[in-house]
Amino acid sequence: MSSSARNFIRRLPKAELHVHLEGSVTPELLLELGRKYSSEYAQLSLQEIRTRLFQYENFSAFLNTYRVVCEHLREPADYLMVLEHLLHGFQEQNIRYAEVIYTPSIAWKMGRDGKAILMQLLDRCTRFHPTSAISIHWILDCVRQWGREAADKTAHLAEEFRGRGVKAIGLGGDENSLPLEGYRETFAWARAHGLFCHVHAGETGGPEQVWGAIHVLGANRIGHGFQAARDAGLMEYLREHALGLDICLTSNIKTRAWGLLSSHPFQLLYRRGVPVTLNTDDPGLFETSLPQEYEKAAQLGLQRSDLARIALQSVQSAFLAHPEKTALMQQFQDEIYQLGKEDAETLG
Ligand code: ADE
Ligand code: ZN
Repeated sequence: MSSSARNFIRRLPKAELHVHLEGSVTPELLLELGRKYSSEYAQLSLQEIRTRLFQYENFSAFLNTYRVVCEHLREPADYLMVLEHLLHGFQEQNIRYAEVIYTPSIAWKMGRDGKAILMQLLDRCTRFHPTSAISIHWILDCVRQWGREAADKTAHLAEEFRGRGVKAIGLGGDENSLPLEGYRETFAWARAHGLFCHVHAGETGGPEQVWGAIHVLGANRIGHGFQAARDAGLMEYLREHALGLDICLTSNIKTRAWGLLSSHPFQLLYRRGVPVTLNTDDPGLFETSLPQEYEKAAQLGLQRSDLARIALQSVQSAFLAHPEKTALMQQFQDEIYQLGKEDAETLG
């Protein structure tokens, strides 16, 4: 990739719609937490942490590392440290808007105060916005394999903080575990209370999972969803109903949800007019960043104009109220126009 292409991607205003806070723990942060809590990882070198924990033979190995990382998040200060790292990355990567996924049921399962953690995270973001002009919203995720009770508790927490930074309820975890049907009422309740609905589907499961996310849970956006490329009718439905897919290329290769980047269905989905965006999913666990995701899309054949379109699609697919979305869209459009003009001057 040329340095001019890399520079274009860096300067492109970007929005990140799918990034897990817990998955933002890097090997360095895990080592720091390991030392703080004298865990078995405190003795390892960074390289050992990378090879033993941050490489995944399959999806369940990835979920296992996720568990290990979360065991090291014990108090609000730990979550805040991860958030600080994430916010710094947003500034460096020219990310103007982000929807961050936090999973309170992980904290509850480990005996921590999931609500107190959320309150501190929201408070930090409120203070961050005026100084950085980066706005952050939150998706509170339920875990597919943990059932209805924890999901209801998550929905109630999301509702309590709706309008104070929380925009949506989500469902993540292992889509091949419990059926979606068990979450129908929880998600209907959340939608009736003004929350958007975000569902991980069509990552390790097939197109039927995406159909279920739409028809059973009323999803407003799908996490991953690339398996929709196996179903022409589904791609058409997503396009017609403006239902976005959060594509996470590095994630799909590292978790082995997909084999080779060169044959990833992303291109097909994009060419068919499915509203796709580019995202990192778990930037710490996959050691990636949003510019790197755009670079991978460029390697797959996308031109600068395509990348700009995807950046604008991220604004379009965001869980934002109309006036906020319009303002952000205008800002992105103006900057992208300027970027195109500068590019033409340099080239011509
Ligand atoms: N939670 C964090 N990353 C995830 C992924 N890739 N799939 C499902 N749940 C997740
Ligand atoms: Zn995810």
